[in-house]
Amino acid sequence: MPATIIDGKALARQIREEIRRDTEIFLREHGRPPGLAVILVRDDPASKTYVRNKGRACDEVGFFSRQEHLPATTPQKDLIALVESFNRDASIDGILVQHPMPKHIDEATIFRTIESQKDVDGFHPLNVGNLCIGQECLISCTPLGVIEMLRRYEVPLLGKRAVIAGRSNIVGKPMIQLLLREHATVTVCHSRTVDLPGECRNADVLIVAIGKPEFVRADSIKPGATVIDVGTNFIERDGKNVQVGDVAFEEAKEIAAAISPSPGGVGPMTITMLLSNTLQAARWHVK
Ligand code: GUN
Repeated sequence: MPATIIDGKALARQIREEIRRDTEIFLREHGRPPGLAVILVRDDPASKTYVRNKGRACDEVGFFSRQEHLPATTPQKDLIALVESFNRDASIDGILVQHPMPKHIDEATIFRTIESQKDVDGFHPLNVGNLCIGQECLISCTPLGVIEMLRRYEVPLLGKRAVIAGRSNIVGKPMIQLLLREHATVTVCHSRTVDLPGECRNADVLIVAIGKPEFVRADSIKPGATVIDVGTNFIERDGKNVQVGDVAFEEAKEIAAAISPSPGGVGPMTITMLLSNTLQAARWHVK
């Protein structure tokens, strides 16, 4: 039987509509919309597109948004000063500095400078720590989107074997905590794992975030598993530049019970979770 396709695009549309309605209520009650500031310190077209898309998503749900494009040569102290000005700005509830930043900027210092209650990326050490000990906090948007996809498609996690391929700070590591919170038994694999396909084949739920185009093949998937593909890669195919995930979708969908495609899976959910985090932060700020 072909797999259920986990449609991140449709889910994102539905959740954004929920956020839009909640934003109307927030605006009526507090006299201002939630506000998001996005800072980009580089000139590459891909990052510019991401930032523009975040601004559009804010417009769609009725948020106030600010986008600051700084030249790649901006000194770290100027970036810190801008972040601190947004920390003080009462119209701004969430601050996101687009990663990756130029080499002369220490990203950890920048993420620590963002007020933890405005850290809608969930990268501040206080938020990372609170996630680990199960306290209320802001959580990294991509893994939060993955867990929301699993929840809304009613994929069982309690007592199930969840395998994460990838150990990044943005996806793999927070994903561990989110799956543990749902009582899954969690294994994390990475580039030094001895038998990656073998580990993946144990998974009832397989989350792939390794950044290698179509790396996970059908022989790495247990029949009946749920597969979430976090990868966004661009490759040349038939003379065209096409987006593919980290999973070989066409063959994987013949083995899995449910699978998210790329594009149209995790991607649209990530920006949606950014909106959700910003609304959450706004609610804290008006308390
Ligand atoms: N670049 C790619 N993904 C992300 C993300 O989730 N947050 C930030 N700040 N930058 C990114």
